[in-house]
Amino acid sequence: MSSRKKLIAGNWKMNKTSAEATALVTDVVTAVGKLTDVDIVVCPPFTALESAGKALADSNIRLGAQNMHPEATGAYTGEISAGMLRALFATYVILGHSERRALFAETDAFINQKVHAALKNQLKPILCVGESLAEREGGSTLKVVQTQLEAGLEGVGKDQVSSVVIAYEPVWAIGTGKVATTDQAQEVHAFIRGLLTKNFGEAIAQKVRILYGGSMKPANAPDLLAQKDIDGGLIGGASLEARSFVELVNAAAAAK
Ligand code: 13P
Repeated sequence: MSSRKKLIAGNWKMNKTSAEATALVTDVVTAVGKLTDVDIVVCPPFTALESAGKALADSNIRLGAQNMHPEATGAYTGEISAGMLRALFATYVILGHSERRALFAETDAFINQKVHAALKNQLKPILCVGESLAEREGGSTLKVVQTQLEAGLEGVGKDQVSSVVIAYEPVWAIGTGKVATTDQAQEVHAFIRGLLTKNFGEAIAQKVRILYGGSMKPANAPDLLAQKDIDGGLIGGASLEARSFVELVNAAAAAK
């Protein structure tokens, strides 16, 4: 039992048109739009932010983006700024997802710039960290997570860090159906909480939410969400259908 409100966030990745987003969000709003004991966030692709935002207006569901550029404006063809996301009423942004790190060569330093830009614009970063299979098998999981976490939060003040959400996503569990065991996940979550305590103090570390991501499904969510330091989920595949996403939200409500 913790004082942290659970958070379930759907990362839709490169899925759903604007019209499909309206349909999915409408179904989620109908089922859990009035729920107040879990924070719910949907992160559609940029092209569906506006339609998703309209469909969730007047509900308790919040809008997030999957990425952004650190600069406010300028010659960055194909990029989107924090201010543009705010103008669409987004309040969260996923930063440093392993797919961005691996496929688009994003570095910890670049991700850190984005974290600062998000905070400056009142967007809550969902900062993703996690090891690859080779890193886990090589015994460097905690070292990799520590580097990504501390570099991602470099220069973030004590007054800002409780607005940050951390997502632990072991890369080998993403989209593979291979979920981390509850012990594997809780070990890393507790380690992250320990690092936050060391760097920001106990009171603040107790406020920061640490989500698990990687093949989280209604069947495995209750056990994961019952862990002391697992404060919710960042959901890929299971967020693309209202039924499974709503079941995950309900699992978080029951785990509270
Ligand atoms: P899956 O839930 O599809 O494994 O994706 C997890 C993820 O990457 C969320 O950001």
